[in-house]
Formats: sequence, C-alpha cells, structure tokens
Amino acid sequence: MATNITWHPNLSHSERSDLLKQKGLTIWLTGLSASGKSTIACALEQFLLNKQINSYRLDGDNVRFGLNKDLGFSEADRNENIRRISEVSKLFNDSCCIAITSFISPYKQDRQLARELHEKDNLPFIEVYIDVPIEVAEKRDPKGLYKKAREGIIKEFTGISAPYEAPENAEIHIVNDDITVEQAAQQIIDYLVEKKFI
Ligand code: ADX
Repeated sequence: MATNITWHPNLSHSERSDLLKQKGLTIWLTGLSASGKSTIACALEQFLLNKQINSYRLDGDNVRFGLNKDLGFSEADRNENIRRISEVSKLFNDSCCIAITSFISPYKQDRQLARELHEKDNLPFIEVYIDVPIEVAEKRDPKGLYKKAREGIIKEFTGISAPYEAPENAEIHIVNDDITVEQAAQQIIDYLVEKKFI
C-alpha cells in the first residue's frame, strides 16, 4: 500500500475532449476463450481507426506477455488481471481514446468493479457479452486449449474446470454462433451510433 502520495491534478476530461474532438469510451468484451472476442475487437478497432477515431485494443493473451506476465489463472490472479486492466482501460478512456478490452473476465464481481471504477469518474463503460455455447467454443478450439483442459493438462480452464459467470445486463449481447465477424462488429457499431458515441 503506497503512503505519502498526493494526487496531481490534470487537465479536466472535458477540456481534453474539446481539444481532441473525441470522447473517451471503454468497450468491455467478455466471453469464453474462443468465443471471438479478439477477432471482433480487431474488426472494431480497424473500423474506428479507418474513421480517424483513436482506438486501442487491450487483449487478454497479449497483456499477459507484458504488464500481467506475473499472473496465472487462479481466481485471485484473474481478479488482479481484471483490476489492472480496468485501471489501464480507464487511463485510455480518460485520454479520450476508445479502449476495447477483450478478456474472458469470468467473474461478475470483477466486471462490476471495472464498471464502477469508470463510472465513479464519469467515464463511459459498455459491457459486451460475446456469447457462444461452450460446445461451440470447444469445437473451434483454435489453440488446442480445450483439448488440453479436458485431458487435465491445463488446470482451472474457463468453462471446463473454472467458472464463467455470464452477464445478465450487458449493454450489448452478441450471439456469436452463426454470424460473420463483420456482423458482430456491426452490432457494436450500431450501438455506438445510436448512443451518439461516434
Ligand atoms: S481472464 O480470465 O483473466 O480474463 P484472459 O482473458 O486474461 O483471462 O486470458 C485468457 C486467455 O489465456 C485464453 O484465451 C487462453 O488463450 C489463455 N489461457 C491459458 N490458460 C487458461 C485458463 N486456465 N483458462 C482460460 N484461459 C487460459
């Protein structure tokens, strides 16, 4: 716990946003491994960047190569993974960038914490549930992880030997079973337009 620290005030969010002519936002994707989070996040980021809207993707696997390389997949480590990412996405959001996060984020309480951290500072937060049945994710198994989890080689694997608590009130619910990446990304884009985020 840090002591003897003092918050240094910054340019206000609205001053920054007026100067940059862009508002910040966090788009929080949650879903099983192989549900399509990273692929949809990429398509969305591409779309926004093509429109000259600054956007940056924070990805579960990628972040674990660096910032969170000290964390594994126990419940406590996943809590800490999501807590750190919540703080990082909040910084991107505050800098008037659109942060797109793609983490399994299996625990409701962690996603709630992410939301509260943003909303207490009036930074908008949208939860997007990428919903595929476990059978579909397991059949896709692009990294062969479900197979290893079934064989007991990987422990605490989400959906097999660790829980996934599905969101009940996500702003956007994408059933990513029988649709294209473009259709999935479009569902998010339509929401952003409807709510005047872009
Ligand atoms: S989270 O649960 O803490 O949000 P995160 O999204 O960062 O997970 O990382 C998930 C990715 O790590 C998966 O897509 C998969 O590639 C890999 N992975 C390795 N071990 C596990 C595991 N035990 N459970 C889930 N994903 C795992």
